[in-house]
Amino acid sequence: MQALVLVGGRGTRLLPLTETVPKPVLPLVDRPFLVFFLEWLGDHGVDDVVLACGFRPEVMQEVLADWAGDLPSLTWVVEDEPLGTAGAMRHALGHLEDEFLALNGDLLSDFDLGELIRFHREKGARATLGLKEVDDPGPYGLVELGPAGEVLGFSEKPEDPSALPPPPWLVNAGTYVLDRSIIEELPPGEALSIERDVFPRLAGDGMYGLGLEGYWMDIGTPERYLQATWDVLEGRLETSVPVRTDGVLVHDGSEVSPTATVGPRVVVGEGCTVVEGADVRGSVLLSGAVIGPKASVVDSILGGDAVVSDGELVEGEVRGQAPVVQNRGRDAR
Ligand code: GTP
Repeated sequence: MQALVLVGGRGTRLLPLTETVPKPVLPLVDRPFLVFFLEWLGDHGVDDVVLACGFRPEVMQEVLADWAGDLPSLTWVVEDEPLGTAGAMRHALGHLEDEFLALNGDLLSDFDLGELIRFHREKGARATLGLKEVDDPGPYGLVELGPAGEVLGFSEKPEDPSALPPPPWLVNAGTYVLDRSIIEELPPGEALSIERDVFPRLAGDGMYGLGLEGYWMDIGTPERYLQATWDVLEGRLETSVPVRTDGVLVHDGSEVSPTATVGPRVVVGEGCTVVEGADVRGSVLLSGAVIGPKASVVDSILGGDAVVSDGELVEGEVRGQAPVVQNRGRDAR
């Protein structure tokens, strides 16, 4: 099975971490995020991955080079200018098979992609959207389904809560099975959004949706990046990372003073220094970060070039840039 993965976004909500390292290859727990993603695809029979990228593909290639033997075959398709989610698919048309999975490349999930593909084939659909049931429709657009799972339409969250349709509330999970003809029909070279420009006009024309069970999180904001980190470490989805109930992972090659407090919920990357009396909680320190004496770091993400000075309090902050050289998922204590 083929998968087209969208990894060309700028990742502005995670700046400055994503200043030079694209969001899909930010370190997550003990490896580049995309390695988790590609393991998930591989577990569901994907053996051919097309990466639709634009921002710094050379950095993505450098980060993933160390993992080459463990990954499916990757084809890189590079946009000169961001073409949006549908424009990027059109740009990759020459590489696409008649039927393919298309996914946002910032999802951490254990959704059963095989179930989505089977449903798509049973229905003879042109497009099938993987949907996630949510307790609060929040900022998401709702997807309305008919009795056979056909998509009837999309609606924005109404201002008046009493105008909400009855639950279940299903939202687009950025996970699709698509027929190549949908992409063929798009004009080349134009910036287009699959969610806004393509899906609304496919409602009633062979588009289906299927609610999927399981873990699903996009890592695109600091809060969700941190939550995804604890969810991996504490085993809320199955990965090859050993479960740590306190959510603490300190990589080899870091220096942590015995008088520093580290945890609960902390990742200390290789080459970090946490000196005496420092207090780190609910935070990720990427390789190279330095925490000074009696400093406190709470609910924050610090890039490899971040320095926290003596006695400073850093709370709810994203500081510094992500490192290109990353942990390889093996050296931790
Ligand atoms: P923000 O700037 O923080 O909104 O992040 P983003 O640019 O990644 O946007 P968003 O999270 O909405 O994108 C969802 C997925 O689509 C991500 O995996 C992006 O990498 C990808 N994506 C968004 N825009 C483009 C684009 O123009 N081209 C390509 N190839 N991928 C895109």
